Amino acid sequence: MSDPEPSLSVSRIEQWLRTSEPQALDALWRRADVVRAATVGNAVHLRGLVEIGNCCARRCTYCGLNAAHAALERYRMNREEILDVALQIADRGYGTIVIQGGEDPGIESEWLAGIIAEIKQRTPLAVTLSLGERAETELACWRRAGADRYLLRWETSDADLYRAIHPPGPSWAGTRIELLAVLRRLGYEIGGGVMVGLPGQTWASLARDIALFAELDLDMIGLGPYIPHPDTPLGRGQVNLPPIDPANQVPRTDAMTYKALALARIVCPEANIPATTALATVDPNHGRALALQRGANVIMPDFTPEPYRSQYQIYPGKSSTAKADAGQGIERLIRQLGRTIGIGPGGRQRR
Ligand code: 5AD
Repeated sequence: MSDPEPSLSVSRIEQWLRTSEPQALDALWRRADVVRAATVGNAVHLRGLVEIGNCCARRCTYCGLNAAHAALERYRMNREEILDVALQIADRGYGTIVIQGGEDPGIESEWLAGIIAEIKQRTPLAVTLSLGERAETELACWRRAGADRYLLRWETSDADLYRAIHPPGPSWAGTRIELLAVLRRLGYEIGGGVMVGLPGQTWASLARDIALFAELDLDMIGLGPYIPHPDTPLGRGQVNLPPIDPANQVPRTDAMTYKALALARIVCPEANIPATTALATVDPNHGRALALQRGANVIMPDFTPEPYRSQYQIYPGKSSTAKADAGQGIERLIRQLGRTIGIGPGGRQRR
């Protein structure tokens, strides 16, 4: 196949996803790396992640935080704890804090707005939120308080599969794609993304997801392999999925995730794309490095204090991967790859 270009059609994207020919893949990795270097450059931006609570109102069948998971001990960090982590992240010289949590009505909008405002006042940090589907009034309130970006993956753009794994929630009746448009209108930088290798996910639907990254002109793209959680309905194989031909099932492998990542970079040259923790969990020795060499330009080290970090069990193995991120290992890896540490907020640069 000839070199992949930004204007790739859905069927070309699907062809690339199905490729396992080493030479073609080498060309794909090289192309993604060249595009990354030419657009977002050599800097790798570090975003400090704080998981402010694992309470969740939703019952997403793949996620360890889902409300039906009764055995999970729940927590909500308080204002002082969150501000303390924000100051640590700023002290480490990072440019962004990512405030993530379950979709939790107990995270009240005015309360969080006060924390966002204080972070903006006391630090130079950009603030990214990742708190699930919230009402437009709440999203507007946080934006007014100073939040800069919002991450909301749509997990899969296959409507039947989405419905099968996703009981509806109380805050937002529309689709996540529609909510991303609301976030954009409110002035947020927006991030979307999917899991790779969900049971019932076809090559064609993953190709559509990648084309959608470009169509929505995403500022940020999050991609990771689906990792079955044994205490969830999907992980136990108890969910009725739309039937597909097994030959069309996307494998939930690191190799598939690298292909999706490289294609995401090629179709969205300017986006900020992290080497995600899920990828580092399935490929502990190479996940971060290979992602950075195949399109990624961001890493999100986890600053959530224990015992909360261990209780933020979206999927198994996450907290030990996160622990390995602590310390200077990440900075060393970035330098070994001939890259530099990003300075400043590292928002999307439009050309
Ligand atoms: N495996 C991998 N990723 C998962 N996520 C949720 N559950 C899992 C899982 N079992 C991802 C979703 C969500 C993000 C916060 O974590 O994509 O948007």
